[in-house]
Amino acid sequence: MLKPNFKEAKKRNKEDIKIIRDKYVIPKEVENIGLNKKYYIKTYGCQMNEHDSEVIKAILEDMKYTRTDDYLDADIIILNTCAIRENAHNKTFGMLGRIKHLKQTKKDLLVGLAGCMSQEESVVDEIINKYKWMDFVFGTHNIYDLPNILKKHIEENKLEVEVLSNEGNVIEGLPSKRDSKYKAWVNIMYGCDKFCTYCIVPYTRGKQRSRMPEDIIDEVKDLIKKGYKEVTLLGQNVNAYGKDFRNRDYKMEDLLRDVAKTGIERVRFVTSHPWDFTDNMIDVIAKYDNICNYIHLPVQSGSSRILKLMGRRYTKESYLELYNKIRNKIKGCSITTDIIVGFPGETKEDFEETLDLVKTCKFDSAFTFIYSKRKGTPAALMEDNISKEEKEVRLHKLNDEVNKYAKIANDKLVGKILPVLLESVSEKDKNMLAGYTDTMKLVNVKADKKYLGKIVNVKILEAKTWSLDGEIDE
Ligand code: 5AD
Ligand code: SF4
Repeated sequence: MLKPNFKEAKKRNKEDIKIIRDKYVIPKEVENIGLNKKYYIKTYGCQMNEHDSEVIKAILEDMKYTRTDDYLDADIIILNTCAIRENAHNKTFGMLGRIKHLKQTKKDLLVGLAGCMSQEESVVDEIINKYKWMDFVFGTHNIYDLPNILKKHIEENKLEVEVLSNEGNVIEGLPSKRDSKYKAWVNIMYGCDKFCTYCIVPYTRGKQRSRMPEDIIDEVKDLIKKGYKEVTLLGQNVNAYGKDFRNRDYKMEDLLRDVAKTGIERVRFVTSHPWDFTDNMIDVIAKYDNICNYIHLPVQSGSSRILKLMGRRYTKESYLELYNKIRNKIKGCSITTDIIVGFPGETKEDFEETLDLVKTCKFDSAFTFIYSKRKGTPAALMEDNISKEEKEVRLHKLNDEVNKYAKIANDKLVGKILPVLLESVSEKDKNMLAGYTDTMKLVNVKADKKYLGKIVNVKILEAKTWSLDGEIDE
């Protein structure tokens, strides 16, 4: 048994990051355990987790499992969890309650916990004490080890907990069963060293480790060969890419340029921290047509006092300076953000400053959250003196403001002809396809399925708050 430990996870040792290429091996004993059996994976949280689930799916398929979308039908269930806010926790434990019932009637069912919650000491202790019926727990650092963990569980027939706390390596050579045939996630770095005071990610995902540029470029070239149109470069804080290289001066702007030069039709990247956003990066994004004009730039708060308490290391003024620079240099760029309300000590005046910032920036859209206390983070020790009701009032007011500007931004697109990568059939209407513009606007189009996977010109007919309606312009 290997349990997680936040004290270990917090450490940032000076050891060089190792690139390990031979970790993923399937032991003979489990290479066929999935024959005639089905797997079900439930993914919570961010894009990083979605992509991790694609890796877990491929590993399970390498052991001959086939996929089911109905957990009642599964022989193995894995919950790939998120720890960022309390409600993500609650959803996972709710699902575990339902699975417990299933396990009572289906004795051979295997149930495992993966992802960020597995990296939390308190969660793992709860699983060990109150969820003894579960079969295995693994973390974000040792996905490659799933076959061995299953093997050990089968041999020992008890709850197998294998969670590493302070992994300093990059594991290459993992398979991936991608959800889309047209757009792909590509990890460029793991972990985060920013330690914003509210955030659990530096503990659950560990120290910042960048992948080698050559490995990333090779992956993108391979995706092009397979017909992919779009890649999204993934990391908790992609702008810090390359800062952990010891003997090499190669930063995010270099990577963006080299990925753009592969000729892939669209390049996106998430998530950006304003702190590391350089002028060179802006220039590269402006220069290459295939780097999408879309930037997710989390601000978190409009009050410099709160930003300081959050450990964000920029002020309202410096954020605005960067924001305006991007808007001026990258024509037609859309910018979205993340905002937290109710951070400990946030006064009405602080909150008003956030509303003011939204009015000034007129974001294309924003993800808004009520602050959630995360055990082990510095903010958890700050006095949380705002009532739940007040936090909800603030969230509501903020959402009204955000939605107003989202609609205004969409209204401006009516009548325009925009390239859209049509990627899925609408769930509500089988005659409609859905896709995204370069600027990340969701567009619904009445179109034949032959357009799936193609970037087509769409005339925008109507704007809603969250999406646009259009028709193909031929
Ligand atoms: N409470 C509320 N929101 C949070 N986020 C991160 N940690 C917390 C927390 N403890 C939000 C931030 C981040 C986004 C991914 O989630 O806005 O940008
Ligand atoms: Fe969390 Fe801050 Fe790192 Fe983003 S940059 S993952 S908010 S610590």
